[in-house]
Amino acid sequence: MDEQDRSYPNSEEVARALRRCWQPVARMEDLADGPGRAILLGEPLAVFLTADGSPAVVSDRCPHRGASLSMGAVVGDSIQCPYHGWEWEGSQGACTRIPSLVDQDQIPSAARIDAYPARERWGLVWTALEDPLGEPPSLACFEGEKWSWGHGTPFELPVDLGVMIENFRDVAHFAFVHRASLGATPELVEPLGVELDGTALTMRREMRPGEGAEEIWDSIEEIIYRVLAPNFTSGHLLTSSGERCVIHAARAISETESAHYWLAGVTDDYEFNLEETVASEERLYAEDRPIVSTVRPPQLPLDPNAAVNTLADRFTLSYRRAFCEFVTGALKPPAGG
Ligand code: FES
Ligand SMILES: [Fe+2]
Repeated sequence: MDEQDRSYPNSEEVARALRRCWQPVARMEDLADGPGRAILLGEPLAVFLTADGSPAVVSDRCPHRGASLSMGAVVGDSIQCPYHGWEWEGSQGACTRIPSLVDQDQIPSAARIDAYPARERWGLVWTALEDPLGEPPSLACFEGEKWSWGHGTPFELPVDLGVMIENFRDVAHFAFVHRASLGATPELVEPLGVELDGTALTMRREMRPGEGAEEIWDSIEEIIYRVLAPNFTSGHLLTSSGERCVIHAARAISETESAHYWLAGVTDDYEFNLEETVASEERLYAEDRPIVSTVRPPQLPLDPNAAVNTLADRFTLSYRRAFCEFVTGALKPPAGG
């Protein structure tokens, strides 16, 4: 296709758009003992909880002599550099104290670091490198007292975030990748009903599980998949006892590498407890990772003609459309600007 006829974004546009996307950089539970480090679109970030427990995200480089702030400690609202102890406030990035100076009024005005917006949602810290779009993702169906939540182990992949989000809700792979865990799941995929609304996608699917599946899922009746493009998805399982879900959120480490966080939820009446549910999801992810890691190219093709598709890929293609929609929205010049 002629570059000029292109109706889908190129990788430079995707990378630029992702700078405005809320992305997870840490689990809250991992910050209890001190700062963490995360790379977002090539930018090393220090992530920490201030003394009152609020998340903060700043550049991981101390501008004094370049040490890594994430190796430092939290002091009140600030992160203290491990090298000479300069303290940097987490919401604006101002230097608040230089221990070697008698007079703190002599802090150079150029002593500043980049600070990024920070939010907590799903037990994760979310940030964006530039002018974020909206708020971090939420879904009304998972609010309320009936749910209990537990995080799984985060992981990284040598492919972009879209490749893994696509795997999460791909239904034709169960019979092959998850044969060991789920038993003989039907290979045939019925026509998929997908609702696409801007960057949001929903698909409801009646499930006919294989023989091993009850031991993992209980007697499952329906799965509802939801995606908020580009980097958030959930699988919601309705069973004969109660409900269960997996929430999956991804971060772009670079254009070809990604980090993934996930948590499982169960309702009080569900057959399996939270621990068993998290453990079974760990097994399923362990089956997906080696396959997804080999996908080439490592960037999700947004050109609908770039791969061979069948009707079973309908949800996949809708996700790619939702991804394009996200990029278009993120790159749109501000109204009146
Ligand atoms: S390098 Fe950070 S205080 Fe000197
Ligand atoms: Fe899978």
